[in-house]
Amino acid sequence: MYRTHTCGELRLADKGKRVTLSGWVQRTRKMGGMTFIDLRDRYGITQLVFNQKVNADLCERANHVGREFVIRITGEVAERSSKNTHIETGDIEIMVDELLVLNRAKTPPFTIEENTDGGDDIRMKYRYLDLRRTNVRANLELRHKMTFETRRYLNGMNFLEVETPVLIGSTPEGARDFVVPSRMNPGQFYALPQSPQLFKQLLMVSGFDRYFQIVKCFRDEDLRADRQPEFTQIDCEMSFVEQEDVLNTFEGLAKHLFKTIKGIEINKPFPRMMYADAMKYYGSDKPDLRFEMKFVELKEAVSGRNFMVFDNAEYVGGICAQGCASYTRRELDGLTDFVKRPQVGAKGLVYIKFNDDGTVKSSVDKFYSEDDLREIGKCCNAKVGDLVLILAGEREKTQKALCGLRLEMGTRLGLRDKNVFAPLWVLDFPLFEWDEETQRYYAKHHPFTSPKLDDIQLLDSNIGAVRANAYDMVINGVELGGGSIRIHDSELQNKIFELLGFTPEKAQQQFGFLMDAFQYGAPPHGGLAFGLDRFVALFAGLDSIRDCIAFPKNTSGRDVMIDAPNFIDNAQLEELNIRLDLKEKIE
Ligand code: AMO
Repeated sequence: MYRTHTCGELRLADKGKRVTLSGWVQRTRKMGGMTFIDLRDRYGITQLVFNQKVNADLCERANHVGREFVIRITGEVAERSSKNTHIETGDIEIMVDELLVLNRAKTPPFTIEENTDGGDDIRMKYRYLDLRRTNVRANLELRHKMTFETRRYLNGMNFLEVETPVLIGSTPEGARDFVVPSRMNPGQFYALPQSPQLFKQLLMVSGFDRYFQIVKCFRDEDLRADRQPEFTQIDCEMSFVEQEDVLNTFEGLAKHLFKTIKGIEINKPFPRMMYADAMKYYGSDKPDLRFEMKFVELKEAVSGRNFMVFDNAEYVGGICAQGCASYTRRELDGLTDFVKRPQVGAKGLVYIKFNDDGTVKSSVDKFYSEDDLREIGKCCNAKVGDLVLILAGEREKTQKALCGLRLEMGTRLGLRDKNVFAPLWVLDFPLFEWDEETQRYYAKHHPFTSPKLDDIQLLDSNIGAVRANAYDMVINGVELGGGSIRIHDSELQNKIFELLGFTPEKAQQQFGFLMDAFQYGAPPHGGLAFGLDRFVALFAGLDSIRDCIAFPKNTSGRDVMIDAPNFIDNAQLEELNIRLDLKEKIE
């Protein structure tokens, strides 16, 4: 027998019991005639004691056991004289009388401890060792609990989990596809699903009524802290529903997870914000509502004083950072550098300090009188001790930069506590999005999203103004999930395809099967998908979703442990009828 108990199980009540434990050696310590070993498994750490006076031979063997050796021991549970309050087994230790080394281990390349000395690359290369660390394992345990509770909730609401294929054709989520060559169909490729969007809609046509799937999705896009090339969605679809039904159902799921996983009971409905307001007041479709600091439009208040930067700007916006009037010259220069970073994108920063002594000081004193500055301050609701920060320029770009500045100030002021959660729904997204580069409209969500009934008449006159029955759930500035009510009417769907620049042939070629299916009785339907990785990262307080994925990719999309992607041999290429022409690109 390998074990009678786990390494996290024994307590003072077990004193005197004879037990067998197996696990990994976290560390060994020699003190006088005693050797102590911390034995670790998934469940915890138990202290083992070897006493030279009792069994010198055994103690000597224990002294030769190295870090991460796998051992089995037998001994008696004893009360510890100096208790360790940091671990749950800290009241006891095992007086060992049998030791068996089950497997030796090379010295690991980094310490298997919470604050490891291993850099990112090395930890990813030896991810199986990294996963032994308690905090990394805890993230995966949390992930398991969240998927378990998700299934419990959805099952209770009559949702059926249905698997959909992975080798499919292109899906319309707007990123690049990962493709897989087909040996049996020379020259042809499958695409991996960016989401199961089309299949879940087909399942509604099949009458499944309530579908969900915890499913891998694949998108070949630039990676960021909250993006992986393969990630997991909690993907859902419902029939005979309106937007309100979908919002209520999935707000219910989020609340269920908050309650069962975080012990947080949210009784109030999630606030709802129109997309247009989110952009106007926060410069983002995923506002972080843990703090206020709303944008104030200042164009009118600042115009006409010969300050050309403001006079010539399409948009002038400000935020009020409470209690920051004491910012030094250096700190203000630092903020200016921050907004000028390419990721933020502003050209410069104007500040007004409402000093504690009642004076006002700004970077534009030359152009604005003290009264002018106080007037601007009033617009921003600035009080004594506050700092008003202003950006100007082209509307969208400036709002985006002001959003970056707002978040930065929120962080500096400690207003973005990871243990505080501010959920909301963002509603009424535009149906279409203009792309400057290609000079055409694209579907903002995907082409099956239905327009708002009131806006259908705008399809022919002002398509940029058409709002969609589309919604995102946002928590703490993270887009956790999004979805829409779908079009189930072929005529309207054809019109949308046409507006998106699809010829009838192209639409038929890409989505013909769905359009055909819709001829056979499609129920009104809608749905949503949560990003599971983002949800887990939010609950675990992680900065990157990588830390809650067992085997993630690095920022170049590589799995450095298994060294993928990689070249395949010529025989395999030949079988697939593929000839590479890489010479130039490699050089
Ligand atoms: P969408 O494209 O908004 O919608 O994706 C839904 C959610 O999936 C998560 N997500 C990601 N997470 C990690 N890495 C990525 N690369 C990544 N891309 C997206 C986000 C996002 O909110 N089929 C529609 C849903 C629907 O209409 O029902 C869809 O996929 O949390």
